[in-house]
Amino acid sequence: MVKYNQAPLPFQGQKRRWIKQLQQVAKNLKTGAVVIDVFGGSGIVSHTIKQARPDCRVIWNDYDRYRDRLENIDNTNAILEGLRRIIGDYPDGERIVEPLRSKILGMLQDWSKSVPVDWLTISNSICFTMKYAHSYEELEKMTLYNNITKKNYVVNGYLEGVEVVRMDWKEIVEQYRDVEDVVLIMDPPYMLTDVSGYSKETYWGIPECLDVAASCCDKNFIYFTSDRSGIEKVLDWVSCHGDINNPFMQADRYVIQVRGKAVNYNDVMYVNI
Ligand SMILES: C[S@@+](CC[C@H](N)C(=O)[O-])C[C@H]1O[C@@H](n2cnc3c(N)ncnc32)[C@H](O)[C@@H]1O
Repeated sequence: MVKYNQAPLPFQGQKRRWIKQLQQVAKNLKTGAVVIDVFGGSGIVSHTIKQARPDCRVIWNDYDRYRDRLENIDNTNAILEGLRRIIGDYPDGERIVEPLRSKILGMLQDWSKSVPVDWLTISNSICFTMKYAHSYEELEKMTLYNNITKKNYVVNGYLEGVEVVRMDWKEIVEQYRDVEDVVLIMDPPYMLTDVSGYSKETYWGIPECLDVAASCCDKNFIYFTSDRSGIEKVLDWVSCHGDINNPFMQADRYVIQVRGKAVNYNDVMYVNI
């Protein structure tokens, strides 16, 4: 099996920083456990668990249709090769100005008439970091930068052994709630953070986050959050002021410090398996 240490195509909020910890945690899963990657995103968590524990059943909820993007990889690579040709030796990271900008947009518009374009991957290559477009119309309004990858993308074997479904998170939790040895992987959109890289820009606020947390009660789970989201503080407050279970109280808490030029926060993973 090929091992990926990040999702093969760009995906906002993918759990690539947690791969080592997930491999360790996977060792403690019961033999034959059924692992449901409820907010599956790029599938990197499903991939990592299946790699570490091939005996477990792993179900990836592909809510964002990331699999379509994987299946479209040949078109994506062909478009990127075309872009590299016209971008040439334009400086890396530089803002793309006229006449190159119009040339790029024209080329992409032509491609979009003949093949499905993975706008998220393409925009990731020619927009500012963490800026995504879902369509040509969105892209043409954005400032372009030369952030194009030097190599083509490879996706071989990424989903080997993983089952794929696509449902709303409540449906899938309901469907598997009474299955023996089920483990829920809960990585919902973080409260109050940018969700522009997802297929639907659904707003996630306190009620949605509390619903997800409540569905972890009495379950085996792995739950991701960050100290920017505030959900931990909300749950502490709620459990101190009412007769309400905080599902994270008995769970192990792992932290990764994320520090950078413009970022400073802790990523958090709770494990109760
Ligand atoms: C933080 S991301 C998950 C990232 C994923 N664990 C990874 O490593 O790539 C949250 C995901 O939840 C998805 N999502 C949003 N609303 C959802 C819903 N109602 N049901 C299921 N998934 C949903 C988003 O589209 C996004 O893919």
